[in-house]
Amino acid sequence: MAIEAWLMQESDDDQRLPHHKNPPDYVSLDHLADLGVLYWNLDPNKYENDPDLNKIRQDRGYSYMDMLDLCPEKVENYEEKLERFYTEHIHGDEEIRYCLKGSGYFDVRDKDDRWIRISIKAGDLIVLPAGIYHRFTLDTHNYIKLMRLFVGEPVWTAFNRPQEDHPARKGYIDSTLGMPLQVS
Ligand code: LAC
Ligand code: NI
Repeated sequence: MAIEAWLMQESDDDQRLPHHKNPPDYVSLDHLADLGVLYWNLDPNKYENDPDLNKIRQDRGYSYMDMLDLCPEKVENYEEKLERFYTEHIHGDEEIRYCLKGSGYFDVRDKDDRWIRISIKAGDLIVLPAGIYHRFTLDTHNYIKLMRLFVGEPVWTAFNRPQEDHPARKGYIDSTLGMPLQVS
């Protein structure tokens, strides 16, 4: 099963709700790929010794790995952290997350600066490119276990929007948003 993604209806309702348009307006994996967002579906039960995961890590140089269990009991400053995650930001590097349990939403901006909501559940591995504006929220189940991957020593620094002069933002615009939409 592929992930589901859709254009968000702007509203002030709880961020943990799906925020579909009426009717829902789904976005394809090709559309996400045009934004530089990559996706794999893996077997979350095999993560400790998964040849497919190992191959992705090897091919893309993801040497670093750790786990993030997002629930109030296991995270210090839980509410503050979630608020930070939901503040629109970029990073200087890729954000690579593999969902092992639970679920949540990664929101990314499309080429017209609209929010696309990407629904993540166990088995979904996504890569957000450096410089893409994004944010994260739990859904109403309030639990996710994520594997975080990184090339070399991890840097988690988030740069909140606006960041138009940040090298990663410029690089993203040149390499990804500057390209014409692929016609398929
Ligand atoms: C992060 C996610 C929340 O930066 O975007 O960890
Ligand atoms: Ni981020």
